[in-house]
Amino acid sequence: MSAIGQPISRSDGPLKVTGGARYTADIALAGTVHAAIVHSTIANGRTISIDTSIAENSPGVLGVFTHQNMPRMNPTPNPWSHLHPYGQGYLPLQDDRIHYAGQPVALVVAATLDQATHAGTLIRIEYEARPPTVFDLRTAKADAVDPPQFLWPVASSVGDAEKAIAGASNTIEQTYTTSDRHHNQMEPHATTAVWDNDGTLTLYETTQHIFGARELVSIVLGIPMEKINVLSHFLGGGFGGKAYVWPHTLLAALAAKVLNRAVRLQLTRAQMYSMAGHQPATIQTISLAANKDGKLLGIRHDSISPTSVFDSYIEYATLSTRHLWGATGGISTNHKVVHVNRNTPTAMRSPHEALGHFALESAMDEFAYATGIDPVTVRSMNDTQIDPFSGRPFSTRAMRKCLTEGAARFGWDKRTPEPRSMRDGRYLIGQGMAAAIYTHWRWPAKARVTLNADGSALVEAGMHDLGTGTYTVMQQVAADALGLEPQKVIVRLGDTRLPTSHPAIGSTTMANAGASVLLAARAARDKAVTLVLSGHDAPFAGAEAENVEIVDGALRVANRNLNISYSELLARNGVSSLTAEADYDPVEEAKGPKAIFSFSAVFAEVRVDPDLGLVRLNRFVGAYDAGRIINPKTARSQAIGGIIWGVGQALLEQSETDPVTGRFLNRNFSGYLVPTNADIPQLDVLFLGDFDEEASPLGVKGLGELTAVSVAPAIANAVYHATGRRVRGLPITIEKLLKSGPLHKFS
Ligand code: MOS
Repeated sequence: MSAIGQPISRSDGPLKVTGGARYTADIALAGTVHAAIVHSTIANGRTISIDTSIAENSPGVLGVFTHQNMPRMNPTPNPWSHLHPYGQGYLPLQDDRIHYAGQPVALVVAATLDQATHAGTLIRIEYEARPPTVFDLRTAKADAVDPPQFLWPVASSVGDAEKAIAGASNTIEQTYTTSDRHHNQMEPHATTAVWDNDGTLTLYETTQHIFGARELVSIVLGIPMEKINVLSHFLGGGFGGKAYVWPHTLLAALAAKVLNRAVRLQLTRAQMYSMAGHQPATIQTISLAANKDGKLLGIRHDSISPTSVFDSYIEYATLSTRHLWGATGGISTNHKVVHVNRNTPTAMRSPHEALGHFALESAMDEFAYATGIDPVTVRSMNDTQIDPFSGRPFSTRAMRKCLTEGAARFGWDKRTPEPRSMRDGRYLIGQGMAAAIYTHWRWPAKARVTLNADGSALVEAGMHDLGTGTYTVMQQVAADALGLEPQKVIVRLGDTRLPTSHPAIGSTTMANAGASVLLAARAARDKAVTLVLSGHDAPFAGAEAENVEIVDGALRVANRNLNISYSELLARNGVSSLTAEADYDPVEEAKGPKAIFSFSAVFAEVRVDPDLGLVRLNRFVGAYDAGRIINPKTARSQAIGGIIWGVGQALLEQSETDPVTGRFLNRNFSGYLVPTNADIPQLDVLFLGDFDEEASPLGVKGLGELTAVSVAPAIANAVYHATGRRVRGLPITIEKLLKSGPLHKFS
């Protein structure tokens, strides 16, 4: 039986539930000492003096570092891309400047963490403070500047959107906002840095990109890449926040070098809000124009987001608008940034898309109400098999199926379209929907597969398991290619000494790293087939390679009654193992003949308390086209996680900045709300995609982040349907919903 397609439980599940999985900060090396960061209390200015004398003489203290004695670093490389990752270009403890609240100003290393933390409180810092610049929705348009390109073009224009909009009979223009948000991983960022006597640096690191960490550290610290190993075996949440290298990693590595000790540095929960990136707020303006039947003629979408004073991180919120719906007249998009006193923002599940879709799919809903066309129908009408941006056909696009089957599962036909027309006792009931498109990346990846004499196999790849099931799905892929049971396959990930792979970001792992495992396993199988046909005392001599099957670790040629196990075959040839490597090196998506994206249509029902303005999710249906599904159980887990993530975006999450101090006010889970089990009802998940050969040899497209996209607009649209109030800023809080008075009346 094929392992692919089976709902197999995670192979690392028992390790995790028994505490056997060792996360980065669990790794206890003999002689490890502990570092604590002291951070700035001001957001703009400089330090005039830093007195470390008392701290240095505090019990257990081994070293105190400030900009005065920290070794100098090389600048971060350009261009900024997924594959040359630095979290931020401004490097820690290199000068007396302060650019954001919570910036590192000193590092204390001591025998214990308590000693380091306490000594940090004894450092006396004098600042010259200036008023911070903060992101302000009221002035953002005036303050915005054009950023340099990094991942995609900053602006796009196909056709003539302005002309189409000017000439249309049916137009709407609205502005939508999303809030600053933090990743809030359960596992804080942590690094343990160890230098060997031969000058090799080993970093035990909370990272989604071991090779990127190696490259960045190599450049910034001036160490050859081959002298750096980075390890990350388990992650307690990444969500993009651990995709890039943040200042603490560099501090730990340098302190370990100077002190010649293994140094462990774990961010405190409060430091998680300023020492690593976050998702920046956006202000987005959308114009939609259509003919009287609801066919889109023109779309214009502009977004502004804040970044740090020293970097130009762009939140590409208008990206999906380039690709999702056809508009016969034209589509134009643009991004601007506002430089403010904060640390550099970064990718957060699902970066770009999840923000842009809130605006686009809310606007589509407004447009549906304005024209009186059903929201599902308006999307079907504007569905396209040609990517509007590149003019290429989509490789596969099951949007219509997602709309139709998702609507059927939800019972959309029972919905009464009029706002405030559905009730459950005293509660207002609302039903809303949205659709989504998600970027697919094709990236190079290597892997190695070894068949062992005991009939087991080893898969090795420098990939990660973010907690999503990578160890398990790689077993399934290799098992099928080798003709083994999945439990006979051991998977090793998360070590730069393994074959080079790509970052575990952008929902790329299955399609790309998975392809490298598939190809390596096939190559190992081919080696075994060669041996059985023409090796020593070849048992199948004379048979054809294509007639050899391998089932349960035994090679056979059915019609000739030949049968030999991998173990016997290797023994007969006097070899202890067979190893094969694969180098999956696909053409970049943008340069291929087809446009490759994954798709969804999602449906939400909310219950709104008319007295309290409290919104609760009643039920949710997600219909997804992510190509072939390798493991329905881990895939469903991804979808559930994505939907819950979207519920947080829709209803709860926001990081607020104090305009006077420039600080993020949120510093722990009591001040930053995320959904809990009690917030989440039944979630219904449908996978409707087909094998997509353009996307990957495995036929899969990106899934994980797709599922977090368009949850927020579906909920916002449901809230409108329930209450008649359109909230255009996330999260949809009680204050916003009750701003124009109680919900008992239509207003
Ligand atoms: Mo995801 S934000 O690409 O880790």
